[in-house]
Amino acid sequence: MDPVRNPYSPGAGRRPAALVGRDVQLAEWDVALQRVEAGRTAQPAVLYGLRGVGKTVLLSEFARKAIDRNWIVTRLEARAGTSLREAIGDALHGPLADLARPSAGQRLLRAVKTMASFRASVDPGGAWSFGLDLSQVGGGGADTGVLEVDLTKVLHDVAAAAAEEGKGLAVLVDEAQDVADGELAALCSTAHTASQAGWALTVGLAGLPSLPRILAEAKSYSERLFSFHTIGNLAAPLAAEALTAPAAAESVAWEDAAVEHVVSQAAGYPYFLQQFGQDSWNDAAGPDITLTDARVGVANGRAALDTGFFRIRWDRATPAEQRYLRAMAADGDAGSGSGDVASRLDRKITSLGPTRANLIAKGLVYAPEHGVVAFTVPGMADFIRRQPDR
Ligand SMILES: Nc1ncnc2c1ncn2[C@@H]1O[C@H](COP(=O)(O)OP(=O)(O)OP(=O)(O)O)[C@@H](O)[C@H]1O
Ligand SMILES: [Mg+2]
Repeated sequence: MDPVRNPYSPGAGRRPAALVGRDVQLAEWDVALQRVEAGRTAQPAVLYGLRGVGKTVLLSEFARKAIDRNWIVTRLEARAGTSLREAIGDALHGPLADLARPSAGQRLLRAVKTMASFRASVDPGGAWSFGLDLSQVGGGGADTGVLEVDLTKVLHDVAAAAAEEGKGLAVLVDEAQDVADGELAALCSTAHTASQAGWALTVGLAGLPSLPRILAEAKSYSERLFSFHTIGNLAAPLAAEALTAPAAAESVAWEDAAVEHVVSQAAGYPYFLQQFGQDSWNDAAGPDITLTDARVGVANGRAALDTGFFRIRWDRATPAEQRYLRAMAADGDAGSGSGDVASRLDRKITSLGPTRANLIAKGLVYAPEHGVVAFTVPGMADFIRRQPDR
C-alpha cells in the first residue's frame, strides 16, 4: 500500500502514531505538573529500559505536556565529552530567549542574569543577556565553578521565574547514564534541594537499565528521591493495538492472524513492531493486511534490521570488541558474567576491563549489576551468532 500513508515509525525517538502502554507514566507526569502549579512538590521521574523501547518518545511526550501548559522546558541529551553545564545552558537558551523582553517580570530578568553567569565560564563572550539591561536586577553569581552550587542557583532562579506565572520548570535529560559521575551527583542534589524547598521544578531522566544503579552510586538517597519506571516491551494486547490503531486511522484493517504473527515475532519490542508494521504495510496490496503480507513484512523487516539496526552496532565494535561480544552471545540476551566471558576468551578479567568499558561507552552493552554485562538491544546475541567468524 501507499508508503506515503504508512503510519509506522521505526527509528530513534520517532513518535509512534499510537503511543500505547505508557498511561501510568503519563498520568503520573500530569499529576506532577499539576502539583507543581498548585505550589506542591512532585517526585522526579526516572524512565529506564533497553534501547528501542520508547524512552525518548515518552520523554518527548513529557516535554509536550509541559509545553502545552506553558512551562519552561529544558530538554537535553547527555553525551560523553559535553559538560552538563554546557548542555543545560544550551537547552535553557531557547526557552529563556522566548521569554526575555524588557517588560518581563523581575524574576525572569533575574533568571536571565543568573543564567548568563552560569554560562560565563563556558561562554565568556556573554551573549546570554539577550540585549537586556540587567544592571539593576539581582541574580547572577552562578559562576563559582562548583557545578552543584551553580546549578542549584540557576535552576532555582528559573523555577522562580516560572512560578511567578503560576507555571513550572521541567528539566528533561535523555541518555542520563552518560552524565559524568560528579555531574549526576550535582543534578540529584539539586533535585533533592528543590523537592525539600518546594521549588516549581520537576525533573525527568531517561536512560539504560543501569541508570537506577548509577543514580544510587551518585547519591545514596536516589532510591527515595526518584519515582522509577521500567520502560519495557509491550504485552500482547498492547502490541496488537500499536499495530492496528495506526492502520485503523487510515481505514486499513489487519487480519487477526496477521496481527498475531507480527506481535509474536516482535515479542512486544516497540522498535520491531514499528519496523514489521511498516514492512507489512508496504508489502500489502490492500485493502486489508493479510497473514501473507505480515509474513513477508516480518521477513523484509528482519533483513532491514540485519543490514541496519544490528549491523551498525556490530560494525561499531573493533575486532577485539567483536570477540568479546561473540563470547557474550553464547548466553543469549540474558547477560553474561564478566568472568565467564573472560574464561571463554582464555583471558584474565582485568585484562578485558578496557574492552568492556569501551563497549559500555559505545552503548553496545551495559552492566545490569556488578560483574555482569548484557546487550542493550534484544536479538543482538542471535544476530552475532549468524555472523561469520573472521
Ligand atoms: N509506546 C509505544 N508504542 C508503540 N511504539 C513505540 C512506543 N514507544 C516507542 N515506540 C517506537 O519504538 C521506537 C523506539 O523509540 P525510542 O527511540 O523512543 O526508544 P528509546 O528507548 O529512546 O531507544 P534508545 O535507547 O535507543 O534511545 C520508535 O520507532 C518509536 O516509534
Ligand atoms: Mg532514546
